[in-house]
Amino acid sequence: MKKIRALVVDDDETNVRLLTLKLEVDGYETDVAYNGIEALQKVESFNPDIILLDLMMPKMDGYEVCRRLKASEKTKYIPIIMLTAKSEIEDRVLGLDIGAEEYLCKPFSLVELSARIRSLLHIRMLQAQLTEMEKLAALGGMVDGIAHEVRNPLMTIGGLARRIKEKVTDEQLLSHINIIIHQIERLEAMVGRIDEYKKIQTSDMQEGNIHDVIREAAEDIKDVMKAKAIDVKFSLMPAPPLVMIDKANLKKAFLNILQNSIEAIDKEGEIEIKTLPYESGYLELIIRDTGCGIKREELKNIFNPFYTSKMAGAGLGLTIVYKVIQDHKADITVDSGEGKGTIVSIKFPLENKNPLISGRVKKGYK
Ligand SMILES: Nc1ncnc2c1ncn2[C@@H]1O[C@H](COP(=O)(O)OP(=O)(O)OP(=O)(O)O)[C@@H](O)[C@H]1O
Ligand SMILES: [Mg+2]
Repeated sequence: MKKIRALVVDDDETNVRLLTLKLEVDGYETDVAYNGIEALQKVESFNPDIILLDLMMPKMDGYEVCRRLKASEKTKYIPIIMLTAKSEIEDRVLGLDIGAEEYLCKPFSLVELSARIRSLLHIRMLQAQLTEMEKLAALGGMVDGIAHEVRNPLMTIGGLARRIKEKVTDEQLLSHINIIIHQIERLEAMVGRIDEYKKIQTSDMQEGNIHDVIREAAEDIKDVMKAKAIDVKFSLMPAPPLVMIDKANLKKAFLNILQNSIEAIDKEGEIEIKTLPYESGYLELIIRDTGCGIKREELKNIFNPFYTSKMAGAGLGLTIVYKVIQDHKADITVDSGEGKGTIVSIKFPLENKNPLISGRVKKGYK
């Protein structure tokens, strides 16, 4: 897993050593800069997730570094903790006014520093999730508008093209009209997928059993799996805790994940569906396939709307999955490598509302 990157900016070698040591013990990847100019260069090359910034430095002081970073669209979201011997209220206010997220006066406790870093990174992650959701919502609206405009002309073009095909006898013309119809079918499928995406926008949450939902989804496409000689193996834990779900939407999400697994398997293969409690407070569902896998460099794109590696794919399956999983306040991760198959893991939170059931299961599994 990629480590979180922290940039330490301080002209005092001892401070730098102390801070980087602590950060590395905490599991961060670190880089250092000894003055303001170098700090700006390191932000470009190291691309940090958080910056610890001393104030009094040669060449350019910490205030100016902070001002410049917060003025740039590219760097303004990187959280900055100002570290300084200055403890006057005016200095702290100035630091915060120009955009620093935190201000710690030396000497400070390293334990407190760690806690503040964790808290800022958590806030940053929530911000990023919110932005992603807003982006998806805006995109959803736009795409829906386009689909609406395309639907009627597409029906006319499709209907006419199919009627023309019935009359055409010339072989070359027939091959052209077949290409036109094939492209129309792709657009029709795309509009259909957009409608599907629209349908999952609202959810009706009720207590339910995830095993029932995944079993139903697998049952719905068992014939397709059989035709490809795909073995489905269930390893479901007994007495799963109930979680809050929108059954119809969740089934749609599971169907999309299974569909991807089926499409990734060329001829024969295996799909394993497993549930296990993930640490305490989570129920983890794993769908693993022995398909073609996903190249490491492609993994970051797979949840993007319209990203597809398939000739006839709309690239909306995992966009649907992502939205449904977010509505369930669950987490989804995909682990894969080219030729290595794919593992999709979904962690559903077990809310405390059902302590008896979740408690019993947790005990049984420890
Ligand atoms: N289990 C998997 N094995 C291999 N590749 C996968 C798997 N799941 C997803 N992918 C990759 O992620 C891409 C995006 O998946 P997604 O379901 O969003 O779109 P799609 O399957 O291409 O099209 P659609 O689902 O809209 O018909 C796929 O094109 C494929 O490259
Ligand atoms: Mg798909």
